[in-house]
Amino acid sequence: MQTSNHLSNSTYSPLSKRYDLMPYRQCGKSGLKLPAVSLGLWHNFGGDDSLENAVSIARYAFDNGVTHFDLANNYGPPPGSAEKTFGKILSGDFRSHRDELIISTKAGYDMWEGPYGNLGSRKHLIASIDQSLKRLGTDYVDIFYHHRPDPDTPLTETMGALDYIVRSGRALYAGISNYDAEETEKAAAILNELGTPLLIHQASYSMIDRWVENGLSSVCEKRGTGLIAFSPLAQGILSSRYLSGIPENSRAGGKSPFLGKKKVETWLPYVKALEEIANSREQTISQMAISWLLAKSYVTSVLVGASSTKQLKENLSATDTIEFSKEELEKTEQLLLLLAPETSK
Ligand SMILES: NC(=O)c1ccc[n+]([C@@H]2O[C@H](COP(=O)([O-])OP(=O)(O)OC[C@H]3O[C@@H](n4cnc5c(N)ncnc54)[C@H](OP(=O)(O)O)[C@@H]3O)[C@@H](O)[C@H]2O)c1
Repeated sequence: MQTSNHLSNSTYSPLSKRYDLMPYRQCGKSGLKLPAVSLGLWHNFGGDDSLENAVSIARYAFDNGVTHFDLANNYGPPPGSAEKTFGKILSGDFRSHRDELIISTKAGYDMWEGPYGNLGSRKHLIASIDQSLKRLGTDYVDIFYHHRPDPDTPLTETMGALDYIVRSGRALYAGISNYDAEETEKAAAILNELGTPLLIHQASYSMIDRWVENGLSSVCEKRGTGLIAFSPLAQGILSSRYLSGIPENSRAGGKSPFLGKKKVETWLPYVKALEEIANSREQTISQMAISWLLAKSYVTSVLVGASSTKQLKENLSATDTIEFSKEELEKTEQLLLLLAPETSK
């Protein structure tokens, strides 16, 4: 659906008050600060999506203090196209702002054919970052992640490749994603030895997906590693998106293979009950779901997705009310235990 490259003549100028609109939080024990809310480009930035909509969302984010944009080699569809879209924005609207941005990308999931197109070998990671840099049209990314653990590659090889990628200037910092607590501890120890500390862990974390609390958050705190929570709305379940049915243009409505209707329906009673607590806090469900994560000291940033500027606007307002009263926390916890015992700690 991407036809024009109207960005080459961009006259976009970001809001001057943007840095007053967003809190920034230290990423673990590093010197890097990340916005409380970051934007992920997994969906809505692919070659099949509207470029105009993607540009509006990216502009709205930056205008409101979102400095961190998260990508991966395979984001699209087709794979690679989200990096190309962001490359267009970077050379257009954002061309005078590279030093104000934290751009991350990843490698590890299936990207090209053959034995070097995925997982955690040095061969895959170095070839992949070089491809990503070309698609993005930049000399370096700020954070480069290994996207998922690889049981067949020695951890020393994968971490050695991350260290090399940082030392060679292709990335400024190293991160990992989807590693469990034990693997994270080992990865952090290897990276420390190599002199490239583990900046950040990117993990799925939301009110209905709390595996992080079973050890990973403690490892991150102990190691001085930041934690960025992805899919904080459980891909839209924790929002008003599905309260009156499953819209055709929604992720569960068929726009993506990653969210099934059954999962949405299973969680609906819980979401409706959560809405009451959210409303009593003068928040929407999605705002409360984001605030609930930001209230945890070990969470550096919450990594949201959005298919419109309207959604993003709603989500960014979560930073206005991060605190929870003891009663609100207890009520939320009781709901979790009552309706979803398998997700509680
Ligand atoms: N490291 C990993 O393995 C991994 C895996 C997954 C994601 N991620 C990262 O995390 C980012 C965010 O993931 P995600 O997109 O799943 O996050 P999410 O914030 O949980 O879900 C975003 C989706 O929820 C719906 N939504 C968002 N705000 C809404 C609102 N205010 N009202 C109603 N609906 C709303 C939209 O769906 P509709 O399309 O239906 O409108 C939107 O696309 C990704 O872009 C990626 O950068 C990383």
